[in-house]
Amino acid sequence: MQQIKKRQNGELFPYNIFLIGFMGSGKSTVSQWMKKRYGMERIEMDQLIEKRQKMSISEIFRIYGEEYFRSLETDLLVEMQTKRNVVVSCGGGVPMRECNVQEMKKNGKVVLLTAAPQTILERVRNSHDRPLLENHKDVGYISELMEKRRIKYEAAADVRIETDQKDMQEICEEIIEKLQKLEKGECPDAEESAACR
Ligand code: S3P
Repeated sequence: MQQIKKRQNGELFPYNIFLIGFMGSGKSTVSQWMKKRYGMERIEMDQLIEKRQKMSISEIFRIYGEEYFRSLETDLLVEMQTKRNVVVSCGGGVPMRECNVQEMKKNGKVVLLTAAPQTILERVRNSHDRPLLENHKDVGYISELMEKRRIKYEAAADVRIETDQKDMQEICEEIIEKLQKLEKGECPDAEESAACR
């Protein structure tokens, strides 16, 4: 297992880690694991928004509309400026707004989790808390929406992690390893990314 060194003040990284990616890419599970394994504070954006609004994401969409929800996301990211060493599990639509990406980059690194459409389908099949996927639980729809979002996801990411066929430990260790490379000024996605060559 990889040796993970914390800083003297107990922090793993002197910034926040923002997990982005399509619905069902594993952001929430990864953030739970990072909290448990590395003692990081964890913020689940959807959960916090639901708690504050006292209603589910589906109800927020239905009653106030998507734009209202998107503004709540932006407000929450601005709030993250006062924090550090927090792992933030972002809603899948967060990187679609340029201002959100700018907020995340101010005091954090952005980690993109990816998975094949079929994997996503298996993971979201039985849930009913994602208004954008309700009544669209098929590979065709997921692939299409994923493709529409791909450029923005890629552009926002400092680090990319494929999650298919990997367990949580592998995924989390890969995240730490790649972020450490980034700190050393190395290119973390050297094997996958043409930009690094
Ligand atoms: C959304 C993703 C959801 C939630 C909302 C919209 C999206 O979060 O924020 O339903 O636009 O991709 P998860 O990615 O955590 O499922």
